[in-house]
Amino acid sequence: MKRRRFLQGALTAAGATCTPVLFRGDRAARAATAGSRTADGRIDVLLNEPIGRVAPEIYGHFVEHLGATVYGGVWVGERSKVPNLGGIRKSLVEALRRLKPPVIRWPGGCFADSYDWRDGVGPRARRPRHTSFWGGASEWPKPPAGPSKYENNAFGTNEFVRFCRLVGAQPYLAVNVRSGSPRDFMDWVEYCNGPPGSTTPADLRVASGERAPFGVRTWGVGNEPWGCGGNFTPEEYASEFRRFIEWVPDGGALSFVAAGSSDDDLDWTRRFLAKIAERHGIGRIWGYSLHHYAWNVSGGRTTDWTKGKGDAVNYPDEEWYELLREADRTESFIADHWKAMAAFDPEHKIKLVVDEWGAWYRPGSQVDDTHLLGQQSTMRDAVLAGLTLDTFNRHADKVAMANVAQLVNCLQSPFLARGNKLILTPTFHVFEMYAPHQGAQSLRTVFASPGPSYTRNGQPATMRGLSGSASRRDKQLVLTVTNPDLRQPRATEIVLVGGSRAAAAVRCTTLAAGDVHAVNTFEEPERVHPQQTTLAENGGSLVHEFPAASVTRLELTLA
Ligand code: AHR
Repeated sequence: MKRRRFLQGALTAAGATCTPVLFRGDRAARAATAGSRTADGRIDVLLNEPIGRVAPEIYGHFVEHLGATVYGGVWVGERSKVPNLGGIRKSLVEALRRLKPPVIRWPGGCFADSYDWRDGVGPRARRPRHTSFWGGASEWPKPPAGPSKYENNAFGTNEFVRFCRLVGAQPYLAVNVRSGSPRDFMDWVEYCNGPPGSTTPADLRVASGERAPFGVRTWGVGNEPWGCGGNFTPEEYASEFRRFIEWVPDGGALSFVAAGSSDDDLDWTRRFLAKIAERHGIGRIWGYSLHHYAWNVSGGRTTDWTKGKGDAVNYPDEEWYELLREADRTESFIADHWKAMAAFDPEHKIKLVVDEWGAWYRPGSQVDDTHLLGQQSTMRDAVLAGLTLDTFNRHADKVAMANVAQLVNCLQSPFLARGNKLILTPTFHVFEMYAPHQGAQSLRTVFASPGPSYTRNGQPATMRGLSGSASRRDKQLVLTVTNPDLRQPRATEIVLVGGSRAAAAVRCTTLAAGDVHAVNTFEEPERVHPQQTTLAENGGSLVHEFPAASVTRLELTLA
């Protein structure tokens, strides 16, 4: 009776932040659940069912020469009035460090497929200029003059590696397969990794002031070869892949990522791996990439995505749910590709690398017209980021790396920058909340929670309700949960299965906004930001109310 009164009180008191909680050992908690009508969902955290270590690289980033991502975002130049570290935006370095970025992919994307690394090294004043891949993109018919139209190569390999060092990330380089050659690739590897005095490319690096090798381990061989990366068939790309990796200096020490499919294109995966297997190449691949963007499919899925995309900020309920549902397909893509890969790689030596993911909206919602694809970000993007990162955590045995597209002034960006201002988006807050998962042991969870109801195309529809992931590092347990329901907070019982109980105070961080269309702007940079509460341990089972349209992190210490 006493407990029931407590729970009722807790639920009535629930606001946008955290409700009080109770803990209990799993058996007692199950009994209590059976007798309680207060919680409408349940999360079991299976303490004795580890899935695998969450590769920190799952929390990776992506920087492409696209719109204002590099120029005006990362790079402001040494002579800029914007505070900088050798040309790199200082405020970005400082804020990005908070996310503990493990890896950054560069220079593209589609841009990489026409990039010659030699253009971006040596004295900056003498670097050549070329039309940027994105200079005439269909979504941006009149690009502003400047490096986003005519690439000036001020930001090249040295500048990128310096940026990585400043933020503590490892570089992940995308190799040009469409218009480059294996020889270019080989020389780039020597430029980056060769010991001083060993080869001409290594000495070029030394002459630029960088004596110590960069030690670039991970190399993506091509990008979207089925599209901007060469319009290859899977068989043609497999031959190219073999040519590129057949002999690379110190190749045995490098991790090659083969450019894989988009979304659910299992045919690409099967045909590419079958061709590679013909010449015993499976063992040479470290990672197999997968790209998935979620765009609005209001009125049903459309192949013409330039018409199908919705607005980043002004969306009806239907588009909120449809976008999240689209993002949530990542889980089946991972499972299906993994299964298809098993036919060629039964021991699963090749891991999945989701090196582009995020929301993609129609033009018009960028914070600045010079930012191609520089879209705004609301709670919808926060929930999308949370549910995607949770999916990766739950598949920690399969996913070795993932890179959100893209770091600043672009799609699903954690940062927006203009002039000397930098703002943190809701996506930034999710990455910061989820950072403790990096390197921890992912645990199996079972979620039972009602899904939201909405209308799709005039018909009743639903999607998954609460979802999330848990990880453990020694006695520290982190549980992250998203609630996609626009209106229903969800009071949910959380059960630690496997004997252990929570021992000390619970720290709760919640990201929610009264208005789901709210955005952070240069004028009002803190409209959407997380709230923190510390909850006293109370010796019973845990009931927590997850606010509508929210992302939550609970941090517990196990006894
Ligand atoms: O992230 C934007 C673009 O999306 C990338 O350049 C390309 O690889 C993908 O199609």
